[in-house]
Amino acid sequence: MAPADQKPVVFSGIQPSGELHIGNYLGAIRNWVGLIDTHDCIYAVVDYHAITQDYEPRELPTRVFDMAVDLLACGIDPARATLFRQSDVAQHTELTWILSCCTQFGELGRMTQFKDKSARQADNINIGLFTYPVLMAADILVYRAGYVPVGDDQLQHLELCREVARRFNHRFGDLFPEPNPILSSTPRVRGLDGQAKMSKSIGNTVNLRDPPEEIAKKLAVAVTDPNRRRRADPGNPDVCNVFALHERLSPPQVCAWVREGCTHATIGCVECKRALAGNMAEVLKPIREAALDLAARPDYVRDVLATGAARARGRAAATVLLVRRAIGIDG
Ligand code: TRP
Repeated sequence: MAPADQKPVVFSGIQPSGELHIGNYLGAIRNWVGLIDTHDCIYAVVDYHAITQDYEPRELPTRVFDMAVDLLACGIDPARATLFRQSDVAQHTELTWILSCCTQFGELGRMTQFKDKSARQADNINIGLFTYPVLMAADILVYRAGYVPVGDDQLQHLELCREVARRFNHRFGDLFPEPNPILSSTPRVRGLDGQAKMSKSIGNTVNLRDPPEEIAKKLAVAVTDPNRRRRADPGNPDVCNVFALHERLSPPQVCAWVREGCTHATIGCVECKRALAGNMAEVLKPIREAALDLAARPDYVRDVLATGAARARGRAAATVLLVRRAIGIDG
C-alpha cells in the first residue's frame, strides 16, 4: 500500500442531522468507508453548513456528537482516515472569504438548492444560505482534494467548485486540482413513504440505531406497490420501495423469492416485509452495537474529533499559506 501522502485525496462532508439513517448509509457512508483503503480520506461533520438553516442551538452539540458516533460505528476508522468537525478548522472559513472573491453573484443565484431552500424558509434567506456552495468549495479545496463522494443533488455545487478552482488558478497560478465527483453506484433509496428521499425532516427513515422491533414496526407501515391492494393481487417489485430495500440488503435468493412470490401473489407484503426486517436488523446489528458502545464513551469520541481536527488543521494551514502568498497577502 502506498504511504498516505501518495494516495489520492478524498474529501466529503455530511451535515450534523443527528443519527444516520439507512438511506445515508446505503447512499453515501458505505462508499466513504470503502474509499479508505485506496484513498487519503478526509471527512467532516459540517456544522457551519448546518447553521444556514433554522435550527435549535441547544441541540447542535448532540447532533454533531451523534453523527460522529454513527460515522465511526459504520467503519470510518480514525486511524486510517481523518474525521473532524468543520468548525474546528478555521481555515475553511478563511478560504471561504478568499474564494468568495472568485465567485460571481449570478453563479450562486443559479444554484437550485439555494432556490429550493429559500422557498422553504422565506423569512430567513440569509447570506450563509447563499454562499453555502463557496464554503463547500473551500472544504474541498483547502485539502486540494481530487475526489469528492457526493449524491447527485450536490453535483451542481461541485461543478461550481471546479469553476472557482479554475478561475483561481487562472488568475493566481495553478494551485488547486479540479475535484471530480464519485457518485454512489446505487440510486438513492426512498423513504418508507415510498415517495420522497429518505430524510429525517420528513420522518420516513429507519435509523442505524433502531432496534429490531422498531425496524419491524416501521416497515409494517411502509408503502409498497400502490396497485397491489389485496393479498391476491399480483404486485410489481420494480415500483415497490420495500423491494428496492431488499435488493440492497437481502441475499440474492431472498430477492428472487420475493420477486417470484410478489408477481404471482404467492406471498403477501406482510411476509415480504418480515423478511426484510430480519435482514435489515442483521445488517444493522454490528453498526448498532458499535454505536451504542461509542455513545457510552463520549470522551473517546471527542478525542477522535479533536485529533482529526488537529491533523486537518495542519494540512489546511499549509494550503492557506500558499493561497495567501498567491493572492498577494503574504510576501
Ligand atoms: N452540501 C453537502 C450536503 O448537503 C455537504 C457538504 C458540505 C459537502 N461540504 C462538502 C459534501 C464538501 C462534499 C464536499 O450533502
